[in-house]
Amino acid sequence: MIDYKDKITDILAPVIEELDKETIRAMIEVPSDRSNGDYAFPCFRLAKVLHKAPQAIAADIAAQIGGHEIFEKVEQVNAYVNMYLHRAAFARAVLSDILKDPAHVGHGQQEETHPVIVEYSSPNIAKPFHIGHIRSTVIGNAIANIYEALGYRVIRINHLGDYGTQFGKMICAYRHWGNEEDVKKEPIKTLLSYYTKFHVEAEKDPSLDQEARDIFARLEKGEPEEVRLWKWFREESLKEFTRVYDMLGITFDSYNGESFYSDKMPRFVRELKDKGLLKESQGAQIVDLEEYGMPPALITKSDGSTLYITRDIAAAVYRKETYDFYKNIYVVSSGQNLHFQQWIKILSLMGYDWAEDCVHVPFGLVSLEDGTMSTRKGRVVFLEDVLRRAVEKTREIILEKGVATEDVDEIARQVGIGAVMFQELSNNRIKDYVFQWDRVLNFDGETGPYVQYTHARAASVLRRAGVSEERLAEISFDPQYISSDSAYELERLMYAMPEVVREAGEKYEPSIVTRHLIDVAESFNRFYHDEHILVDNEEEKKAKLALVGAAKAVIKSGLALLGMHAPEKM
Ligand code: ARG
Repeated sequence: MIDYKDKITDILAPVIEELDKETIRAMIEVPSDRSNGDYAFPCFRLAKVLHKAPQAIAADIAAQIGGHEIFEKVEQVNAYVNMYLHRAAFARAVLSDILKDPAHVGHGQQEETHPVIVEYSSPNIAKPFHIGHIRSTVIGNAIANIYEALGYRVIRINHLGDYGTQFGKMICAYRHWGNEEDVKKEPIKTLLSYYTKFHVEAEKDPSLDQEARDIFARLEKGEPEEVRLWKWFREESLKEFTRVYDMLGITFDSYNGESFYSDKMPRFVRELKDKGLLKESQGAQIVDLEEYGMPPALITKSDGSTLYITRDIAAAVYRKETYDFYKNIYVVSSGQNLHFQQWIKILSLMGYDWAEDCVHVPFGLVSLEDGTMSTRKGRVVFLEDVLRRAVEKTREIILEKGVATEDVDEIARQVGIGAVMFQELSNNRIKDYVFQWDRVLNFDGETGPYVQYTHARAASVLRRAGVSEERLAEISFDPQYISSDSAYELERLMYAMPEVVREAGEKYEPSIVTRHLIDVAESFNRFYHDEHILVDNEEEKKAKLALVGAAKAVIKSGLALLGMHAPEKM
């Protein structure tokens, strides 16, 4: 895509000798009110250098560059030079660029293929895969897609919570109150009920806690009976997780979770000790972080068993040694901010300069309408149930509307699951939010179904016109027919796509893409309502179809970044 800021910089540079190109480029603004031009250049700064009134400078610049072919008009207004692009030339440039490679709108090229790790989802084994996990799963997947689109080599990691004292509790509960048959029938829900019972019983009988700790210590030592049970719980859980990932269309390159590091721990405990970072505290080993305003990090317990943070230290070093990452991104709830702050501090105290390439990308909490979720209390909404219900509801709506599609089930799946994903990605990720059924399934307004529907609408126009997508790239069109206000607004939004993707990657914020897609869809629909597309004038029709095809490509590419399908019919 042509970079118009670069182009304008080239035009301005010979006229403004007092400033270097980089400065000029940074000063070019995009006015929020289009009536002030597509681009504007403020002259306050030059006024200081030239000791002249900024209005006079602006007038002078406007006069000098006004004749350039990319501009329709250049005006001085107060201290600004307001520049209006030649709409037809702009439309031609943007559309040709998109139609040349419609599947990759907004994609970039990284010169070297830097490996970027995105860790996301990472649920805990033998615990429900609940609505709280959807955030990490969907946001992380979108971030991974965005980095891939920007041209990085992305490694997707699911750091399964498949180790730790909770397995002591689970095995303990299973031995006291469990039976094999029930677990086989409905593994996660049954295991969850054991886990819940454990906490109720342990309140009455604290010796259960000690029993659970002993069991976990035996698991860490590799005692066969504990290992067998743990493996079995892990397998059953993974089956359930995989079912949900399949529904969401989400994949991973590695499921190396906490247990993977269990045998790699001694090296790091030794290293921490050698580097003088370990302190003993009541039989446990800690890293004192008081100097940095943080509570101490517990590395090993008095019985020698390791902790969550110890495994995260091991995981980071392992990833550096295995992938030599350029960036190592962790998409994990803001509830773990302190954990990640302690962990990064410890890595840099250990002397790993790549600690600064590790990024915790936090997100806000999900609560239920009647309060917070609690695994211990067994109060959860299962993600799988949410997805199934969303699909069912969508199916009903499709049938009600009498949508002409051969494959109701497939469309219901794409739209229902898309609705849940889109809503996850609609707001700034750091915001807490309340999970509400009617909000997820509201198909009007700024929702996934609305954007998908807009895509299907564009597809239907192309079908009616009898142009295939492959042919669009070859269509020669006269851009003067797509220079109206509504067409131009749409073209500007399409042109912004690469910048939007870049910004979303830089800020680890997929909602920037989501919001932009809503704008594109709204703009497309305005164009669709304002203008006749399938007109008799062949030339006009061709130009408008090129615009429709390009808009469709932008929406489809954008939805793909979010992890969503773009149905052809809806
Ligand atoms: N399993 C953890 C949880 O569900 C999230 C793991 C986050 N990743 C990490 N490397 N610590 O809370």
